[in-house]
Amino acid sequence: MKLGFLGFGEVAQTLSEGLMDHELEVLTCTAGRSNKSVELAKSAGVGLCSTYSELAKSCDMLLSTVIPAEAVNVAKNVAKNVKGIYVDLNNVSPATINEASTHIADGNTVDAAIMGSIKNGLKTPIIASGPRAEIFAELNNYGMNIEVIGSKLGQASGLKMLRSAYTKGVSALLFESFYAAFQMGMDEILWRYLSQTEGSNFKDSSVSRIKSSTVHSHRRAQEMEEVSKFLSKYEDPLVTQATSEFFHLLHDKIGQISEKPDDYRDVFRKLANDRF
Ligand SMILES: NC(=O)c1ccc[n+]([C@@H]2O[C@H](COP(=O)([O-])OP(=O)(O)OC[C@H]3O[C@@H](n4cnc5c(N)ncnc54)[C@H](OP(=O)(O)O)[C@@H]3O)[C@@H](O)[C@H]2O)c1
Repeated sequence: MKLGFLGFGEVAQTLSEGLMDHELEVLTCTAGRSNKSVELAKSAGVGLCSTYSELAKSCDMLLSTVIPAEAVNVAKNVAKNVKGIYVDLNNVSPATINEASTHIADGNTVDAAIMGSIKNGLKTPIIASGPRAEIFAELNNYGMNIEVIGSKLGQASGLKMLRSAYTKGVSALLFESFYAAFQMGMDEILWRYLSQTEGSNFKDSSVSRIKSSTVHSHRRAQEMEEVSKFLSKYEDPLVTQATSEFFHLLHDKIGQISEKPDDYRDVFRKLANDRF
């Protein structure tokens, strides 16, 4: 089997290195890409096609790992040359998956969502849905960790959105509660009491969520807008809407921070100083 990556960033690099270790042939095309992507593809040692149409024609399975904003364009560009299945692994909504799939023939699109950071390598959990999702899951024979959760497009990307609604909503609530507790000088006591009901790992995982909220506030605000749109099909998403507003406000207040703070209280201190 030949596998092709559209886009060669962190996801493609991680997956291709693992899959090649399992003797799978992996190809990509870096025409028009940045030096960073060209170097990543070279150092991973994948086969290089000179055009995207050659890549699409050569592969039994194409994995789209570009950026969310390019998911539909990339599908449109390769559409007429796709000969196998087309797996969209981008972090996009069910509506975008459906739009991308209209360009791919014969219901050959697979909706796939990476459930966590790809830094965990080939074993990173991935969920998939669509009529041909089982074909994508054959990559489990090469060390991947794919679970087929349904036969319809939109199920995998939708589930990922629900997971985001929960995790980002909790992060916003943690930030809000502990920022007030910090100003009262009572955050340690709050950690102690919440750990009694939430479990012994509660403080570590929550501190990590508070810290990462400071680095990714802008991206999360935008992501929650998308999630909120998606949820509107089923309900009035009040909490998710508030989560989006929370992250927009946080970004306005602290700006773009490139690295996680060593201590979450540094961010609280800065916010409190700027306020008074
Ligand atoms: N990284 C993670 O842990 C993770 C987890 C969950 C989901 N995802 C999703 O997986 C996808 C890939 O993530 P990543 O971390 O690998 O991103 P990345 O490191 O930013 O790489 C994106 C790649 O796509 C290329 N690209 C952009 N526009 C393109 C186009 N029109 N045609 C062809 N290639 C194009 C980029 O090329 P240039 O270098 O030229 O820009 C780059 O090679 C994203 O949609 C992301 O949301 C990632």
